[in-house]
Amino acid sequence: MQLHRAVLLLSTFFVFVRSSPLVLDNDNEQVPIVVPNLPDGPVYEDGELPPLRDTDGWIDPRLNGGRFLDFTTKRLGEPLNIIISALSDPYILEEDGFRDYANSIGFAGECLGLHYGNLHDADLGDGLGRKPEHLLIRQHYFPIFGTCWESVRGGHHFRAWRQNGTIANSGAWFIGASKEKDSSKNHKIDDDGYNIGRDYFVEKAIAGSRWQGKWWKADVEWHTGLMPRGRRGVNHGIAIDGRVAVLTVKRL
Ligand SMILES: *[C@@H]1O[C@H](CO)[C@@H](O)[C@H](O)[C@H]1NC(C)=O
Repeated sequence: MQLHRAVLLLSTFFVFVRSSPLVLDNDNEQVPIVVPNLPDGPVYEDGELPPLRDTDGWIDPRLNGGRFLDFTTKRLGEPLNIIISALSDPYILEEDGFRDYANSIGFAGECLGLHYGNLHDADLGDGLGRKPEHLLIRQHYFPIFGTCWESVRGGHHFRAWRQNGTIANSGAWFIGASKEKDSSKNHKIDDDGYNIGRDYFVEKAIAGSRWQGKWWKADVEWHTGLMPRGRRGVNHGIAIDGRVAVLTVKRL
């Protein structure tokens, strides 16, 4: 008798719950559910966050299958740790102007067209897929030997790609900056050479610079979460802090 009543009570309760308007019917809800760890979905680890939308003057490459590591080899990459936003002086968003700007902060074009090392590819999510670097620029120590001196001695350098495919035609420069050891070490990157290379560039840019009568000064906005921190997938196994500097270079 007791059991019968219990069963009756339970089933009544069940029927009530099923038909009650108080219980939300989840099937009809349009709640976007983000499940980043599905096996074939994107996985965000080590401080990386989902792609940013609506950024001014650049577009997160990850929105269209790109990434913030270049493709040094099939599997390893070097960080794209600086962005020159398209809100910068239009002159430096073009290749020649950008070379002038690089000169103004202490870099110069590759020595006599000699190119050590490989071209790196990068995918900026602009519809052009993995494209080779547009520019390789090296620090020069003094004007007589210029970049040739640096090629022997080691030092700062960067590679640059322009985000100018039709899918994400921002016109921003994406830059992988690093500090190398000297050439007796076969141009290996310094310990911490990616963070150091980025910070060196940023320091020069925000301090202000000039070249042939043109003066510039940059504002910086730091981003974390665009790429993972640590050494996984990074060329030479050198750990990175995962930070990206977005520079807006103003003409004074
Ligand atoms: C993108 O910019 C680079 C660097 O200025 C240039 O070499 C390349 O031709 C441009 N590509 C397109 C599709 O406009």
